[in-house]
Order: sequence, then C-alpha cells, then structure tokens
Amino acid sequence: MRNGRPLLLLNIGQLLTLRSAAKGPRRGASLSELGIIEDGAVLCAGGKIVSVGKTTDALRDPWLKKNRKKITEIDCARRVVLPGFVDSHTHPVFAHPRLVDFEKRISGASYEEIAEAGGGIRSSIEGVRSTSVSELTRKLAAVLDEMARHGTTTVEAKSGYGLSVASELKSLEAIRAAARPWPGTIVPTFLGAHVVPPEYRGRSREYVALLCDEMMPSVAKRKLAQFVDVFCDRGAFNEAEASEIFAAAEANGLAVRAHMGQLSETRLAPFLRYHPASLDHMDHVNDADLGALAASDTVATFVPGANYFLGLAKFPAARRFIASGVAVALATDYNPGSSPTLSMPMAMSLACTHMKMSPAEAIAAGTINGAFALRLANRKGSIEPGRDADMAVFDVSNYREIPYWFGVNHCAGTIMNGVTGEGLLC
Ligand code: NIG
Ligand code: FE
Repeated sequence: MRNGRPLLLLNIGQLLTLRSAAKGPRRGASLSELGIIEDGAVLCAGGKIVSVGKTTDALRDPWLKKNRKKITEIDCARRVVLPGFVDSHTHPVFAHPRLVDFEKRISGASYEEIAEAGGGIRSSIEGVRSTSVSELTRKLAAVLDEMARHGTTTVEAKSGYGLSVASELKSLEAIRAAARPWPGTIVPTFLGAHVVPPEYRGRSREYVALLCDEMMPSVAKRKLAQFVDVFCDRGAFNEAEASEIFAAAEANGLAVRAHMGQLSETRLAPFLRYHPASLDHMDHVNDADLGALAASDTVATFVPGANYFLGLAKFPAARRFIASGVAVALATDYNPGSSPTLSMPMAMSLACTHMKMSPAEAIAAGTINGAFALRLANRKGSIEPGRDADMAVFDVSNYREIPYWFGVNHCAGTIMNGVTGEGLLC
C-alpha cells in the first residue's frame, strides 16, 4: 500500500540492522555480525529510514508522542525484521518452464549433455522470441510480486533468452516495464552473452561482434541495463571472448559481472582489471585466485539453488572463500533451467546445510553483501537512518529460523521503498 504517512514498526523481537562502522562488504568474521536490536523499532518517512532503536525509546520520543496520530503503526508482535533481501542474480525473463530438461536430468543426463543435444538455454530462446513484450512484462510482474512475498525487495534481472538484437531489447524493455509499477528496486543486466544462438552456430566470432558492436551500444543508448554479464564457461563463451565483451561494456559505459566457474575452472585474476561487481557460481575456482579476489572489491556470489536443482554433489567451497577474506553474497539464480526458485530463504538454507555457512553469514550474504554485489550498498541491505525503507517481516521469533524452515514461506510481508505490502497493515 502506498502511504504518504510516516511508518513506525514497533515491538520487533529481533531487529537485524546489518549496520556496520566499517566500509565495504562484509568479509571474514564480520560476515556474522547482524547488528541485532532486541525489542526494536524503526521509523520511516518519504521512503527512507529515519531512526532505528528500541521500542521503549521510540515511544518516549517527544516528536513521536506529539505526532503519533499522523503515523501508521505496525505492531510486529515480537517477530523478526531484517533488511529486504537483495537477490543479486536472477534470469526472470522467460516464457516457459523447462520440463523436458528436468525429466531428462532425472533420467541421468547432465546439464551439459542436455545443452549439447539442443536443450538447455537454447531451448528457452524460441519462447522469448515468440512472446510479446506485454506478455513477458505480465509474467515478470507476477514473479516480482511473488519474490516480494518471500522477502525480496531488490532484484537484479538479466535478459539472456532472446539472443537477437530485437529479442534482447524486448527482454530488457519487459524488465523496465515490470519495474515501473513494482514498489521494490530492479537492477537490469544485459546478458546477450548467455550462449551463442543456433543461427550463429560455429560463428561465435560473428555473434560476439554483434553483441559488442550492435547490441551493447543500443542497450547503453536506451539506458536499458546497468550491467553486462557473460556466461564464461565450456559450451558458452571462452576467456578471450569474455574479455572482449568486458572491454566493449567498459567502452559503452556499462559495469560488468559474470558467470564464472560453474562447469569448469576459469582463472579469475585476468578479469579483475575490469572491476566486475560480482563473479557468480564459483563452483570451480583455483585457490591461487582467492587472494586476488579478496584484495578486490569484487563479490563472489554463490547460487546454491543451481547446485541443488542440477543434483550436483558439489557445492561452492564457501568456507574457503570466507577464510580467505573474499566478500561473498547469496542469490537465487532464478531461471527455468538450473534454478527455478525465487526464494532467498531457500538459497540461504542450502548455503547453511550444503556450504556450512552459519545462518548469520547466510543472512548477511543475502542482504548487505548482495547490495555490494549490485553496487547499491549506500541505499540497500541494511536498516540504518538514510537508507531506503526496504524491510522484510518474518513470522518467526529467532532469525535462525529463516534458513531452518526450508520449503515453506514464513515471510509475513515486506516494505519496499516505504511502501507497505498487503498483510502487514491490520
Ligand atoms: O546461472 N549458467 C548460465 N545461466 C544460468 C542457467 C540458465 C539456464 O539453464 O536457463 C545459470 O545457471
Ligand atoms: Fe545465472
């Protein structure tokens, strides 16, 4: 509900502020610091957080006492409130689920075998090409609402299933159109470099030229994306092509991020000179790269939903990254092929059970470090005066329950840029 009135959340059992005196993303031990206030209260106005503290202090505040009638109050009844999740890696513009791939994998085929046989990413292309921008927008809008119902208030949204000039622009137009009425925040990413589409089979050089010389300048000119992403791996784009794509992004004034080390190891150090905001997946990473990564501002984003859904025994070695001082984030990787979940609590649960991240680390990785992965940490990912009023209320009494209860949604509602979702106001 859009509400011009100031908003006061009271009686918060555990308020996870994620505030920090230190600059930069959370690394090492600081990844576990949630900045918890028991019996907390938050005052918001004009879409921003104004003050954060104890409920008792808020109720004694002279300004609040005087203006209470003009304020909308939400009694959180001892529930947990935390920054809205920042889902920093999603592929939400597609037309259909990939049920054939799903059943093939259950019968024993691998993700790469299915892709080589014409399934995989390529099998989502036709759906996007033949679907209108308004239909893609309608589907995406429904997904965004569902994400908000699971506690997500900021979403990075990639194109990447159109893979022609017209259909990539159409995908980004759908992202822009769906973002407009949504009260949360969308960060659009151009992923024309997802795979080489069938009509360019054996001519990847020409497709890279199309990406760099035609698609990227149009995307930049129409301000349709903030980032350029590339899937750098076996069966997609090699290191030389990824470097070329990064250089073109730089020339077009677009920031970069990439899918790296999902299926095979790619040395990361050569890419750090392009200052990627984030390198994602990171299932296969050389130890020698961890030092360089830790010394950089680049975030390593894990997407364990993909490992889970592809039935992989191996998950990213989160403990090695954290011990090396790398800034790590968690995201859903919502997409029809490898990770059809939009639930950040599910991604966090997988990170806890399969990657041995603590519940506190998983929450910091899905909030403040996700915000760093999108270069939005000055606005998102923590509950502090001056930040955007993005919060999730969970119907639990201990934050550890967020990753503990898996496969169910305990989010009672969200506040996005000060706009209160249904269910929170009585
Ligand atoms: O992040 N790896 C590349 N892209 C997606 C998968 C996309 C698909 O299979 O449709 C991923 O896992
Ligand atoms: Fe992805």
